[in-house]
Amino acid sequence: MDIEELPGVGATIAEKLREAGYASVEAIAAASSGEMMDIGLGESTAQKIIDAARTNLKMGFESGLDVLAKREQIGKLTTGSQELDNLFGGGIETQAITELFGKFGSGKTQIAHQLSITAQLPKEKGGLDAGAVYIDTENTFRPDRIQQMSKALELDPEEALSNIQVARAYNSDHQMLLAEKAAELMDEKKIGLVVVDSLTAHFRAEYTGRGTLANRQQKLNRHMHLLQRRLADLHNAAVIVTNQVMSRPDIMFGDPTSPIGGHVVGHHSTFRVYLRKGKATKRVAKLIDSPSMPDAECVFDISTDGVRDG
Ligand code: GTP
Ligand code: MG
Repeated sequence: MDIEELPGVGATIAEKLREAGYASVEAIAAASSGEMMDIGLGESTAQKIIDAARTNLKMGFESGLDVLAKREQIGKLTTGSQELDNLFGGGIETQAITELFGKFGSGKTQIAHQLSITAQLPKEKGGLDAGAVYIDTENTFRPDRIQQMSKALELDPEEALSNIQVARAYNSDHQMLLAEKAAELMDEKKIGLVVVDSLTAHFRAEYTGRGTLANRQQKLNRHMHLLQRRLADLHNAAVIVTNQVMSRPDIMFGDPTSPIGGHVVGHHSTFRVYLRKGKATKRVAKLIDSPSMPDAECVFDISTDGVRDG
């Protein structure tokens, strides 16, 4: 069904919706009226269109069996390290956001690179048999590293690179727009993984000073909402976001670091992993507050081949 067939959607509104990335009835049904109002629709129009889309898709309650069927679709993506996979109960899950947080050099970007390649592997090898989208906010995507890691998995390096769609985000607005563009891309192409590396760097740089925190959190909230519903849920994709932690010298006991974005990012992440440096190329990963898995730790290694057991 075309979005024009929804009551209340004429050519002008259809164009607005498409421009903002709401190209399908599913995408509209998954939106909030606030999101629709952000693209210039009036409140009652927004609500009417969303309701129509939801009715059309019979959204709302679903039976426990439907929930089960959806959960059975959850894919598990290997990190390259069995130990690290075990932490997540067998790999990074689709239909979920996994947050990697840690200080600089703790391995966030390396894991993101590795997953962009393993996503392409067939399912029996721990992959998702799909491509990846990489939203790069810090200009740290390295094609040569992708080539190196794919050779180690006996994949054709050129092909591996061609299956990763990379976009550089220049500011937080651009980053949010790219997430919407990713949703459109996923309507056309089989994408199993979306990386946002770093989720928070632009937000942190742009929203400084007093009085801006609430705005930042609200925007971050909207961004994560979209990542969960339009990317992870609708397309059965794994979403990886990275978050650098700040040192918190005011905290005297325990680990003096805390992820930025605080509870907003935490609330939206199904899995949160704290990464820290070990000896040389060893890294320690700790799963935090997982709904289904015990809080556990493991050691892994960042080798020339990529992420491996420690
Ligand atoms: P920030 O983005 O600065 O917060 O850090 P990060 O957590 O993303 O760290 P990143 O993943 O970039 O780097 C972690 C470590 O991986 C580095 O300290 C290097 O030791 C290692 N590393 C990075 N690139 C390579 C590479 O090409 N080969 C190998 N063998 N190791 C690398
Ligand atoms: Mg990084």
